Amino acid sequence: MTEKWAKKNIVLIGFMGSGKTVIGRAISRLTDYDFVDTDGEIENVTGLSIDQIFKKYGARRFKSEEELILKKLLPRENLVIATGGNIDLDSDNLELLKDSGFFVLLEADPQILQQRLCRKHNRPLLGKKPTMERINQLLAEKGNHYEKLADFRLDTSCMTVEEAAQIIVKKFTEISGPPI
Ligand code: S3P
Repeated sequence: MTEKWAKKNIVLIGFMGSGKTVIGRAISRLTDYDFVDTDGEIENVTGLSIDQIFKKYGARRFKSEEELILKKLLPRENLVIATGGNIDLDSDNLELLKDSGFFVLLEADPQILQQRLCRKHNRPLLGKKPTMERINQLLAEKGNHYEKLADFRLDTSCMTVEEAAQIIVKKFTEISGPPI
């Protein structure tokens, strides 16, 4: 095991609807690592839903809450972290999290993302009915950033949550030693 790969956390990044939360929970079950969902933490801390934060205080407040959560996570170990699909990819704290985190980029075909995103309406950036045009536009804006951060990429279009989790744990084990 090289120093470079002495990773202590698994960090899931990717577009909205790529499966970060459900796959993160499944990885947590397989590894016994604690699961942290940055959106969920923001809701816990503020006592408001993501939608309410955006409506009441706007995107800037959401972003600063997200930064605080990332900062709090920096010293922690043995975590599976699901980041928000609209996280600031230039965040210094996210960059710092890379020192201890194995960054997994979850991807999926835009059509599949749209199907998944139509099921839930809690994404202020997309609105109620995400069009393919909007999804493709956001993917084009964010794609390079995601790729730069990723240690490993996984297309989840045609796999179950369990399959995706197993592949990620296997990869993590290969590079960092057994996760438990
Ligand atoms: C958001 C989308 C969400 C999450 C957060 C903000 C938005 O995406 O980042 O709720 O601004 O539209 P995912 O939960 O699918 O990653």
